[in-house]
Amino acid sequence: MKLNTNAAAAVASIVDPIRRAVEQDRVTMLAPAIAKLQEAGAFSFPEFFASARADRYSRRLIWADPAGRFVVVGMTWAPGQFAPLHDHAGQWGVEAIVEGSMKQTAYRLVDRDAQQRYRFMREGEEIAHVGAVSVVIPPLEYHAFANASPDVSRTVHVYGSTMERCQKFLHDADGWWRAETVELTYDA
Ligand SMILES: [Fe+2]
Repeated sequence: MKLNTNAAAAVASIVDPIRRAVEQDRVTMLAPAIAKLQEAGAFSFPEFFASARADRYSRRLIWADPAGRFVVVGMTWAPGQFAPLHDHAGQWGVEAIVEGSMKQTAYRLVDRDAQQRYRFMREGEEIAHVGAVSVVIPPLEYHAFANASPDVSRTVHVYGSTMERCQKFLHDADGWWRAETVELTYDA
């Protein structure tokens, strides 16, 4: 992404606090740091988000830490778009709603068989609104995320590294879930 000066300043304004939180104690510091930035409007910058796409939600890389400790990604969700039940490739993450509202359904992995089939227990579902910040910490890394707004929703995600792929899970009629690899790309 090519940034003008304003955009570079906007990126710096979020990256510095995120880097400090990651350096200090990411588990306890990062979610409050993200909540504070969100409250201050630091994520409400159009260049952080790609346009909505027709085929899937869009993902834009806002920042990749040169030392490889974290990435910041903006996601744009058109009405009706969702990420089905998925993992986070074993990465920790923090997800914040910047615009709109999202339905978040948490699952717990309870079994896995020799044929790579999985069983999950649905743990809870909530509609979260602007300002909500949630944390993904493996092994509690399984959830579905869906735009719950009639308009576009936008979210910001911080992950422990660039996730080039993750797994999504498809529910079979027999109650088991099958994993499918998803290649994660960025939109300009
Ligand atoms: Fe997720």
